[in-house]
Amino acid sequence: MTTDKPFDAMFSGVIGQEYQMLKLICPFATEMSRLVGEIVGAYCERQNTQQTVVELGGGTGITTLAILSAADNLKVLSVDNEPIMQSQAQQSLRDWVAADRLSFSSDDALSALQALPSDSVDILASAYTLHNFHIDYRRQVLAEIYRVLKPGGQFVNGDRYALDDISVHTRSTQREVGGYFKVLTEINRLDLLEHWIVHLFNDESENHVMRESVALAQMADVGFREIELQQRMEVNALVTAIK
Ligand SMILES: C[S@@+](CC[C@H](N)C(=O)[O-])C[C@H]1O[C@@H](n2cnc3c(N)ncnc32)[C@H](O)[C@@H]1O
Repeated sequence: MTTDKPFDAMFSGVIGQEYQMLKLICPFATEMSRLVGEIVGAYCERQNTQQTVVELGGGTGITTLAILSAADNLKVLSVDNEPIMQSQAQQSLRDWVAADRLSFSSDDALSALQALPSDSVDILASAYTLHNFHIDYRRQVLAEIYRVLKPGGQFVNGDRYALDDISVHTRSTQREVGGYFKVLTEINRLDLLEHWIVHLFNDESENHVMRESVALAQMADVGFREIELQQRMEVNALVTAIK
């Protein structure tokens, strides 16, 4: 992370190339994308016009596909600044692009949001992206999310939300690390194990960790209402809010 690049490029190496291995060490990740899609679908069902969805951190397209499949009356702009990740989504989701349901931005999340007009987006959806951000950058992103959403617009984020009880959080993270070792040593992928452990240190560092109460308070500070933590699965949670 530098002043020029105020975000961490943690998905450029082996993690990005072999991102599909995540489902082995974090089965919740796939479920979370499904849940994000469900929230988006339910929101779209209540509207009778075309809905604009901006997705932050589309990655290889797992969450993007869940969103696209959730309703017919939506179009997605999927933002991701890591080419190794986004190129996989561009390949697997090319039919959705051809059908004019999906477009991509390779800007970083904050720049992409800053380029959008105020009150122009119906739904802002994301999974496992915001927790990667530096806390200062995340605060700016949240304010921009609020700005670009239309009044009444939906924010949904399925992500790592650190538990407020630090001891419980630590035990949960320890179990998670145990799972990484079990799965990745069994298939002899010590290279991936190393990268995911290094990545986890970034997630858990004081200037990145997205602690539940702090994160929800930040959302309230920028103006969101009806802020709800809908489901928690260990260190993972589904958070929704309305502008
Ligand atoms: C863990 S992946 C999640 C991908 C997908 N949503 C899923 O759940 O499978 C996080 C993604 O966020 C992207 N990302 C991280 N920081 C970003 C930033 N500042 N701007 C845009 N994308 C970012 C990474 O490149 C990566 O593809």
